[in-house]
Amino acid sequence: MLVAQISDIHVRPDLSSLQTLERAIGWLRTFRPDALVVTGDLVDDGWRHGYRLVAESLRSLDCPVHLLPGNGDDLQLMRSELAAVAPWISATGPMHFRAAVDGLTLLGVDVTVADESYGDVLPHLPWLISALADVTTPALLFMHQPPFRIGIEVLDQVGCRNGTALLSTLETTHSLPLAILCGHVHRPAFGRLGTIPVQTCGSLCPPNPLLLEGRADLPVIDAPSFLVHEVSDGRLVSHVVSVPVSRGA
Ligand SMILES: [Fe+2]
Repeated sequence: MLVAQISDIHVRPDLSSLQTLERAIGWLRTFRPDALVVTGDLVDDGWRHGYRLVAESLRSLDCPVHLLPGNGDDLQLMRSELAAVAPWISATGPMHFRAAVDGLTLLGVDVTVADESYGDVLPHLPWLISALADVTTPALLFMHQPPFRIGIEVLDQVGCRNGTALLSTLETTHSLPLAILCGHVHRPAFGRLGTIPVQTCGSLCPPNPLLLEGRADLPVIDAPSFLVHEVSDGRLVSHVVSVPVSRGA
């Protein structure tokens, strides 16, 4: 079972990250994942045409696509412009998803808060409990912001609140997800919430600088990237796929 994850495209009118998206999608068309999950921040500044361009690109993939909004998304535009890609996007309310893909359950929890840049998982824990109640397969849990401090101050200021409550809730269920898979950070990063592995997917827009513990703001030498998760026999291995910016871009 191969689940691709892309995140933080942040398409804007200069189209540079759209070109990176198209290169990633071109690669995935040949790779043929069983599903694709997009973990938010698709388009900047509520640019309607940007959502259309992202939808066009995602529709060229021959697999189910599951979408979560990020704190930079316009949920109304996302609903209207991406309905053809993800018809299950609800007309109102949070954009959670739950999907079964050949022995694996994919869960997405929308932690966006209207008119705020931070996220909050607390209001969605009842949904998560009911979504997990009858899951008998291994599960992957997707969300935009990681549910803990990432160590980069500017991102943590708009992080996801109530990660501890998320952990307590997950610990009451009969089986923990194999991993919590996020975006938002614009860099691949790896940690844990309790015993649950947490990973952030790199971005398709230019990565963020690694501003940790007062270290210098060094130039970013990382390439945009995405993840491919392989799940087999209840074991998860995640692979980073880099998308170096092409010379013409
Ligand atoms: Fe974000």
